[in-house]
Amino acid sequence: MAAITPAEFKLLADYIYQISGIYLEAEKKYLLETRLGPLLAAYQCASYRELYDLAQRDGGDRSLKKEIINAISTNETLFFRDQKPFELLKHKIIPDLIDRRRPGSGGRTKIRIWSAACSTGQEVYSIIISLFEVLGSLNEYDFYILGTDIADEAIGKASYGSYSKFEIERGLPKKVLQRYFQPVANGWRIKDEIRSLAVFKKFNLMEPYTHLGTFDIIFCRNVAIYFADQDKRRLFQKLARTLAPDGYLIIGGSESLTGIAPQFVARHYLQGIFYQLQGAADPPAAGDRKRPAAAGAAAGPSRRRPPAKPSSTAGKAGKRRPTAADRPPPPSPPAARPENDSPPAGSEAGRCEPSSPPATAGGEEAGGFLARLDRTPPGSTPLLAELQGGRQPATPLVLGAQGGRQPGPSLLAELARRADETAAAGDEPEPDS
Ligand SMILES: C[S@@+](CC[C@H](N)C(=O)[O-])C[C@H]1O[C@@H](n2cnc3c(N)ncnc32)[C@H](O)[C@@H]1O
Repeated sequence: MAAITPAEFKLLADYIYQISGIYLEAEKKYLLETRLGPLLAAYQCASYRELYDLAQRDGGDRSLKKEIINAISTNETLFFRDQKPFELLKHKIIPDLIDRRRPGSGGRTKIRIWSAACSTGQEVYSIIISLFEVLGSLNEYDFYILGTDIADEAIGKASYGSYSKFEIERGLPKKVLQRYFQPVANGWRIKDEIRSLAVFKKFNLMEPYTHLGTFDIIFCRNVAIYFADQDKRRLFQKLARTLAPDGYLIIGGSESLTGIAPQFVARHYLQGIFYQLQGAADPPAAGDRKRPAAAGAAAGPSRRRPPAKPSSTAGKAGKRRPTAADRPPPPSPPAARPENDSPPAGSEAGRCEPSSPPATAGGEEAGGFLARLDRTPPGSTPLLAELQGGRQPATPLVLGAQGGRQPGPSLLAELARRADETAAAGDEPEPDS
């Protein structure tokens, strides 16, 4: 393989920075050689200078530019990476958002989630699986879940939703695999019911975000590490403008916003961290303050319903007979938990404002989502750990007759709508560009 000269390194590093924001320090010479070396052969270039010149003259489809981005981007990811963000999502963020976003008269609760730099899609599918695990069914909600990445190949794979045995074994508990994936040659593919809830697009985080709209939750994990400090600042400024005033930002487990994004404040919950905009009080839902503590007892086991498992036939989703796997768990810490959201004294979660005061049961608006949701309390075994330990998953409560609300449109209609949206956006296997 040809060695890269210092001058060639500078040319290509500047070019890569210009097209992707990925900043390569001088010691990354080896990285350019190993990642771009194969392109020298593919494009029959005798030197990196020639490759650079060719990229400058790249034709209408910009194929060399795309290949350079594919080659240089690090797409390392896995299902339920770091776990905690998904526990936060299930037990704090989604319940709180649902309480705050619940529309006054019927209608479906709208929540918009963006996985910025989603790589090959594991983060997006982990989010959707978490939603199913905590809500049981998404019928009553209007989720818009967007996954974006700069790398064509990564976003194409995300959109296709097929993973090798090795990729599956990294982070996916067996029960989750069986519930949400179907076997295909050489691996597993996410079931259509899950896939159709996601929209994937190619998008460079260095570009303006205005057309993307506003999001209630943004996952932007393990991508800012590739950017120079001034670009990290710009990135988080733009994310701040893209986040709803009371929205939630999740960054990578080893990342920090200190000195980078003063507009965000860190909040701790369930031993995890999420960020909110300064001034966002993470307010309790409107109805919560008036709730007497005792009435929360209505959220007992009798109101539970097992989580809806996606089936290969979406239309059957609401009708299938419960199986042994659906059975609610035996009484466990979640069920015994007082309906007060306060974390145990001294726990990590104690550093966070309680998400909501005690919930109550009663009329249409009383009780809020928290009264109907069996949240795993801080300190008890989270669902994933339970699954990994081979125990019955904690069963979420979902809105039902006792919640006083009508069931939403059928899952089938919802899936058809999502599929249309995805198709309009340029569905699999070709991502949008
Ligand atoms: C290490 S992966 C992180 C994937 C996932 N968020 C996670 O934490 O598991 C980083 C991703 O950032 C993407 N990326 C790098 N620069 C980008 C940019 N300017 N805009 C959008 N995505 C970018 C890469 O293509 C890669 O897929």
